[in-house]
Amino acid sequence: MKILVIGGCGFIGFNVFEYLKSKNYGKILIADDLSGESSKKNLKIIKEKHKDINFKKIDISNYITLANLIKKFKPSAILALHGQVAVTKSIKNTKKDLNSNFLSIFNLLECLRKYVPNSVLINLSSNKIYGPINELKILEKKTKYISKNQINEKYPLNFDSPYACSKGAADQYMKIYSKIFNLKTVSLRLSCVYGENQWGTEDQGWISWFIKCAKFKKTIRIFGDGKQVRDVLHVNDLSKLILKLLIKKKTIKGQSFNVGGGKKNALSLLDLISKIEKKLKIKINYSFYNERVGDQKYFVNDLSKIKKITGWRPEVSIDKGISNYIDWIEKNY
Ligand SMILES: NC(=O)c1ccc[n+]([C@@H]2O[C@H](COP(=O)([O-])OP(=O)(O)OC[C@H]3O[C@@H](n4cnc5c(N)ncnc54)[C@H](O)[C@@H]3O)[C@@H](O)[C@H]2O)c1
Repeated sequence: MKILVIGGCGFIGFNVFEYLKSKNYGKILIADDLSGESSKKNLKIIKEKHKDINFKKIDISNYITLANLIKKFKPSAILALHGQVAVTKSIKNTKKDLNSNFLSIFNLLECLRKYVPNSVLINLSSNKIYGPINELKILEKKTKYISKNQINEKYPLNFDSPYACSKGAADQYMKIYSKIFNLKTVSLRLSCVYGENQWGTEDQGWISWFIKCAKFKKTIRIFGDGKQVRDVLHVNDLSKLILKLLIKKKTIKGQSFNVGGGKKNALSLLDLISKIEKKLKIKINYSFYNERVGDQKYFVNDLSKIKKITGWRPEVSIDKGISNYIDWIEKNY
């Protein structure tokens, strides 16, 4: 199988690439424009480790360059693991966000239909496309919001930031192109992914950012009351899911799946701070600021659909995943 990994120098792309390599799965070409915060650093690591790396520096929002690459490489699977990651940045530069998260997927769909119609396209969407989900019944506890309900794919979409618009439009185009042109597409609506080789910032990658602040004794700025809850997913679990989808490609036509750590792996910002304090035996300084646009008080994925169709489920527990990641940050920063 020939696999085109777009965004292979980003956090998720890097980890998925490494996982596929470790399984000796497919002939891989990485395409990345190296615009991500840590892409150059990750590319250096990849090049040092894999002397035979096949890498092309391209911006896939440029249709002609992308089409030439696809006509030449003829991938049987395209992993769209690229994109602009932060809601905050989508507000600062809406055009860049639109190009990176929507136009790039539109270009990929066009190339898929014209040049490689039997190939699989896997796209990374986001839980942000469900909006603030204000109707959800939640209870406020001392350190977190709780709810009996998890969010499944039937929940209505509600785009309330440029990021949600670009991600949501791409997610919907993936479905429509599959339906009309009979293409094998799948979107994974992710909540928060974390793990080794994530070099998070204040804009995106809060688990990574909080641990880094703790290590360097920097005050953490919490936007909102810190009781926001997410079901966090370790990147190794996501890599395993992507491989499962590649193997099971017949079942993934035009599907969108909610993907996260599920109920067992849900935690609030304040919970994370306590976990880091306990592990590092320190006291962390933090202060509160206004809530950010597009933030959800509670988002925990209902994983029933993805579990039923693929048999996949998250294996890395929140405590083990976070503890290992803290060790990794201690060694690598
Ligand atoms: N990390 C998460 O928790 C999370 C959650 C939900 C959704 N996602 C989505 O997953 C995707 C990957 O996230 P990540 O955390 O790995 O981000 P990242 O910034 O670490 O990696 C993205 C990579 O894509 C590349 N890229 C961006 N635009 C490109 C373009 N036009 N052409 C070619 N390459 C391009 C960047 O250079 C970078 O290497 C993004 O689309 C993001 O929105 C991530």
